[in-house]
Amino acid sequence: MKKVQERPNWTEARQLKGRKADLVDHKMFQGEFKAEKTEFQGANVVKLQAWPAGEEGPPESFAVSDPSEFRHQDLEDNGQEGVDQSVWYSWSAYEEESMPLDLRWSQADESRWRFTFSLPSDAKCFGLGERLSGVNLRGREHTLFAYSDALHIPSLDTMYMSVPFLVVKHQKRYYGVFLDSPAWQKWNLDMDLDETAKIDLLSRRGWTLFMFVAETLPDLLAAYTTLTGRSNLPPDWALGYHQSRWSYGNQETFLSVAEQIRESQIPCDCVVLDIDYMDEYRVFTHSKKRFPEFKESIDKLNAMNLKTTCILDPGVKKEERFSVYADGKKRDFFVRRGDGRSFIGKVWPGASVFPDFLRHDVRVWWAAQHGFFVDNNIQGVWNDMNEPCFLDKPCPLPPDSEQLPADKNQGFVQQAPEGKVGHFEVRNLYGFQMARASFEGLLALRPEERPFVLTRSGYSGVQRYSAVWLGDNMSWWEHLALSVPMLINVGLSGIPFCGVDVGGFGGDCSQELLIRWYELGIFYPFFRNHSSMEGAVQEPWVFGEEAENKIRHLVEMRYKLLPYLKRLFWEHVRNGAPILRPLFWAYPNDDNAYGIDDQFLFGNDIMVAPIVKRGHDSRVVYFPPGRWIPLENKNEIIAGGGYKLIKHELGKVPAYVREGTIIPTSSAIQSTAEYEEAQITFESFGDSAIGIYLEDDGTSFEYENDGYNEWLLRVENGEFKADCANYGYIAPDRTYLVDINGECSQVKLPK
Ligand code: GLC
Repeated sequence: MKKVQERPNWTEARQLKGRKADLVDHKMFQGEFKAEKTEFQGANVVKLQAWPAGEEGPPESFAVSDPSEFRHQDLEDNGQEGVDQSVWYSWSAYEEESMPLDLRWSQADESRWRFTFSLPSDAKCFGLGERLSGVNLRGREHTLFAYSDALHIPSLDTMYMSVPFLVVKHQKRYYGVFLDSPAWQKWNLDMDLDETAKIDLLSRRGWTLFMFVAETLPDLLAAYTTLTGRSNLPPDWALGYHQSRWSYGNQETFLSVAEQIRESQIPCDCVVLDIDYMDEYRVFTHSKKRFPEFKESIDKLNAMNLKTTCILDPGVKKEERFSVYADGKKRDFFVRRGDGRSFIGKVWPGASVFPDFLRHDVRVWWAAQHGFFVDNNIQGVWNDMNEPCFLDKPCPLPPDSEQLPADKNQGFVQQAPEGKVGHFEVRNLYGFQMARASFEGLLALRPEERPFVLTRSGYSGVQRYSAVWLGDNMSWWEHLALSVPMLINVGLSGIPFCGVDVGGFGGDCSQELLIRWYELGIFYPFFRNHSSMEGAVQEPWVFGEEAENKIRHLVEMRYKLLPYLKRLFWEHVRNGAPILRPLFWAYPNDDNAYGIDDQFLFGNDIMVAPIVKRGHDSRVVYFPPGRWIPLENKNEIIAGGGYKLIKHELGKVPAYVREGTIIPTSSAIQSTAEYEEAQITFESFGDSAIGIYLEDDGTSFEYENDGYNEWLLRVENGEFKADCANYGYIAPDRTYLVDINGECSQVKLPK
């Protein structure tokens, strides 16, 4: 019989003003507690840590903020500025001060923690990773426990990724609450209308909580991404268009899709192979039956300037004669149940076992298997099902759980450097560590090239290793609309390289929906059309010539904007800014900007206002103060500071440029492989304008060693000027033009 659980009885574990830890109940966490604070990147940061009694310090290995895991190695290796541990100082003044937002914490049980902080009624909440929600997250609960549910309907409360970083905007300040624990968390953002946020955390391992306070949102993101890391510049090809479907399941289809792409002259950089390229879904293999000339086919695509990305799931087919299984088993690299027996879950290959990616040695072993991809000239690796997701088991922890089961009853146990730990304690890191293994594998095997990894699950800091897409959306108008606020929040969670499946994954995409989706999708940082085999096909050409022409025009705009998009990734590398931004990123004092879910900024200079409703050919667009010029029609000027009804025909680009901006654009190319030779035009929107143009080789890490060029551009009274800010990359000869009010002339850039 199911035991009826008692409601938790909360006790405040520590009073924030006044006395020391005040642990009253014998069941309570009898641990240690530390408070420190510091300042970096323009933000004040408080770090609180709690850890179990008898241990020397806070949990080392599974918090992303842990220095041994990340800061010292990765940040310094990447040439990024890390957080110097010595700058944290113990907060004795803490006894007298209360925490920002009056943050408090308490315990109801040794495995159940509660944090509360105030959310005044005029405070707004953003971030928190992947949430099926509008931009403002207030007024509902958000569970963070990696989970795969293909039905993305409003009641869905937990998704594939878990990023426990919330941005709170209150009055003139931006707060960041980062509860660095990969265990189950539920954030109640003033559901009870008591102007309070409550986070419940189920963990016996302690936690680290960072509270950031910054004067601006860019400062807040700069500080948060200093702590959790940033993405490197993606390889150029990954910024192009990716064509995918579950599945291009044999060689003929794969090659014919590639041929069709080139025939259609729709620019494209990558074709994706979903699970059917494998030999009965065995990882790191290919089917000899369906892909008898696997490598040759991939090379044929490479010769057409098309890269290949292959899917990779964590489940390893349990089969003695399968070498990856046999080798992993011999080394004891797969997770085990609490009773010591092998943990077996069902995925595509049937009964499967799962590597313990928490272990460094397992990640190194998995990374080495990526030789399969490299040997076959495959460029990208797509990590899927890595929550991890099993086809034969429901959500592992019931949503109303009041307590954490014992370690041995958490499905399986994992191995942290400190010892064994129940899976639920670290579940939110499974996909993160898998993506890390893929990234490190590709990097080790092809050190000269920036890896491209795509992942479905992830945790804070996943941006260091991977791009993300938001899983199995549907070919629904509602999902087209939701992609905007969802991607805004992913960006505000430190993850710049993100997208959703263009056209929708499940269901049948209509012609109108597909074209509208491209109008928006060309501005997704990660831009891929992908669909399920259960739905109708939705490649750009399936609806006939007229639709194909429209889609070609839209994808061409993506490639035209490549120099600008590359610059946006530079901004991320330098200061952690997202690519796709809410209007309030650049207009923080404009109250209207905070209520907008269906427009966004693509960098600060381009605003996108897509049509996301069926049958509509006009919409109301909010134009922030200033003047705006349609990207495709420089003759029109729209006065900002208000709303305007805009007519928007199917197939047009729904974007507006801030007057006074120079947008660098590329001449028409079919893939980024042609980009080095492309002509660059500095398009001036207005008679006086400024802009930045950056160049690098688009593939290597040389940009970290000064191997890039940067120019500051100006147009003053119709005259073009450029100052060289850096010259470290010898670019092939290319032509530069400037376009002022439709008049083009060739220019030279100083070195
Ligand atoms: C999952 C992925 C989807 C993929 C499918 C088959 O549902 O989210 O993108 O196509 O598995 O691999």
